[in-house]
Amino acid sequence: MCGIVGYVGPRPALPVLLSGLARLEYRGYDSAGVAVLEGGRVLACKREGRLSRLEAELAPYLEAAGSAAPGACVPGGTAERDGSRARVGIGHTRWATHGVPSDENAHPHADCHGRFWVVHNGIIENYRELRAELQAQGHVFRSETDTEVVPHLIESLYRGDLAAAVAEAVRRLRGSYALAVMSPLHPGTLVAVRQESPLVVGLGRGENFLASDVPALLEFTRDTYILDEGEMAVLSPHAVQVTDRGGRPVAKEVFRVTWDASMAQKGGYPHFMLKEIHEQPGALRQTLLPRLGEEGDVRAEEDGLDPAWLGRFRRVHLVACGTAYHAGLVGKYLLEGLARIPAEAELASEFRYRQPLVDRDTLVVVISQSGETADTRAALREARARGAGVLAIVNVVGSSIAREAERVLYTWAGPEIAVASTKAYSCQVAVLTLLALHLGRLRGTLPAEESRRLGRSLRALPALVEEALAGAGRVAEVAGQVAGHEDVFFIGRGLDYAVAQEAQLKLKEISYIHAEAYAAGELKHGTLALIVPDTPVVALVTQPALREKTMSNVEEVRARGGRVYLFAPASLASGAAGVEVLTLPEVDPWLAPLVAVVPMQLLAYYAAVARGCDVDKPRNLAKSVTVE
Ligand code: G6P
Repeated sequence: MCGIVGYVGPRPALPVLLSGLARLEYRGYDSAGVAVLEGGRVLACKREGRLSRLEAELAPYLEAAGSAAPGACVPGGTAERDGSRARVGIGHTRWATHGVPSDENAHPHADCHGRFWVVHNGIIENYRELRAELQAQGHVFRSETDTEVVPHLIESLYRGDLAAAVAEAVRRLRGSYALAVMSPLHPGTLVAVRQESPLVVGLGRGENFLASDVPALLEFTRDTYILDEGEMAVLSPHAVQVTDRGGRPVAKEVFRVTWDASMAQKGGYPHFMLKEIHEQPGALRQTLLPRLGEEGDVRAEEDGLDPAWLGRFRRVHLVACGTAYHAGLVGKYLLEGLARIPAEAELASEFRYRQPLVDRDTLVVVISQSGETADTRAALREARARGAGVLAIVNVVGSSIAREAERVLYTWAGPEIAVASTKAYSCQVAVLTLLALHLGRLRGTLPAEESRRLGRSLRALPALVEEALAGAGRVAEVAGQVAGHEDVFFIGRGLDYAVAQEAQLKLKEISYIHAEAYAAGELKHGTLALIVPDTPVVALVTQPALREKTMSNVEEVRARGGRVYLFAPASLASGAAGVEVLTLPEVDPWLAPLVAVVPMQLLAYYAAVARGCDVDKPRNLAKSVTVE
C-alpha cells in the first residue's frame, strides 16, 4: 500500500529518504512527506500529489545537504549542527485510506507537541475509539487519518523510554501496521514495529536504514533483516536491536538481497499481476477485518450504511465495467440470496443510455477499482439524476466516483498496477458480501446467528485464499496444456457461473486465447456444438445444491471428447470420473467465489506466460479507461 523509508547514520538524511521514496513510487501513492531531525529540531514537509512537489519544496535543503551518495557522508563534526545535515529521518508515500489525499493527511504525523513523529502503513481498526479517548484527554488532532492516533498514544504513554512507549502503544492497536517512529528527544534512534504490514531493516556500516519494501534500500545496502510479525527494531547508526512482542531479544539472520531493482519492485515476483494475486490474503484482511467483529457481526454503520438510508430501497442495480462488473454479478447472487432483495448487475456503458428504470426506491451500487472509469461515472450521474441512492465501491480514495457517490465503501486492496484486475476484484466481492449480510440482517431475511456464522467464516477466509494460492503449481501445469489451444470454455451454475465470467475475461485479456463462460445448463442450447475432441472446458463446482446438475453438463462435454478440468472442493469432486480434478479448499458456498477465483487468475497468468505475452500490459488495454 503506502511506502515507508527511514534512515539513521552519518549521511544527510533528506536525500536518502527522497531517493528511497522515489524507488517506491511504482507502488502508487497520492501524497508524500518526510520528517528529519535538524540538530535537535524537526523539519517536516508533506505534500499532496507527486514526490516531485515535495522535492521542489525541499530544494533549498537538498541543495545544502548534497546528494545521497556515500561520498556525501559527513562524519560528525560541525556538520552535526548544520541544519541541512540531518542524520535521522522518516519518509512516506501515502495511498489514502482514511481521509482524502491532502497535505494534512499525508504522513508523518505528530503528537500535540511535535515530540513523536510517525509514518504508518496499514489500517488501525480501532482508531475511532482511540481517537475519542485521546481527545477526551485533551489531545488535539490535525488530520482525518487513523494513523494520527499513534503519535498521540505514544505521547500519552511516554515516560522517558521511546521504545517502551511504542511497545505499549502498539499493544493498544488493532489492525495492521508497519510503523516508524522518530523523536527529537531521542536523536540518533529510530523505532520500527510491524504487524501484518511488511518492514525491512537495511544494514549499513555506521548507518542503518528502514523500508517497507526492498527497492528503497538497494541503492544503499543489500544486507537486511526482514522483520517478522510483532517484531520491533530499535535502530541507531551502529546497532539494530530486534525484540519480539514480549520484549525478548531476537537474533535475526541477515538476508542478502540478490534481486535486481526491477524484480525488487515486484517483491521478487516476475510480474505485478502475480504479486497482486499473492497479495489477496492481505488485501482481504485489510478490507474485511475492520468491518467484522470477533463474533462475525458486520459493522456497517461506520461506513455510513445506516438503516434509515438503506431501509428505503426495494431493489438494487450493480453497475460497473470489466472485472468490476463481474464482481457485481457475484453481488447480485449474494444480495438476492442473502438479503432477498431484487438485484441486477449491469454494464455501465449500457445502463447510461437505456433510460434505466431507477428511482428513489432503487439503490445503485457502482463498482470501480480506479474510481475514474468514464462509463461508470456517467452511470452514477444518470442514477443520481433519476433520484436513486448511489453507493460506490471504490479502491482509490478521493477518486471522482468516490466523491460523486452518496455513500462509499472502500476496498482497501492497495494500488493495483497490472492492467488485469485481481486483488481489486476479490476485495469488491468481499465488500459486496458484507453488504449482503448487512442488508440481510436489516431486512430480517438472514437470522442473526446465520449472519454471524458467515461473518466468522469471512474472517477465516484470507487463510483459505492462502491455501488456494498454494495450489499454484498444479494450476500452472494445466495452464501449460490450455496455452496450446485457441478456444477455452468455462462453465458453472449460480455463483460459479458468475466466477466463470471473470475467469474467461482474465484468460482472454492477458493470454489472447478466445474464452467464453457459459451457464452450465445453457451449454446444450448452443455452445455444445463447439466442443470437439480435446477442447478444454473448465468446470467450477462449489455449490453443493447444484453439483449434480453441473456434473451432468460435464458428462455432456465428456461425451463429445472435451477435456474437462474440474475445480471443486474435495467434498464435491469425489466420484467424478474421466476429468482432471483440481481441489479447492473447503469453503462455505456463499463465500466460494473468493476462493474459486484464485486458480482462475493463476490459470490465466500461467497460460499468458507460457504464450510469451506481456502479462502486466496486455495489448490494446488500459488500466483506467476514462473515455467512453
Ligand atoms: C479497464 C481495466 C479492467 C477494469 C475496468 C474497470 O478495462 O482494464 O481491468 O476491470 O477497466 O475499471 P475500474 O477502475 O472502473 O474498476
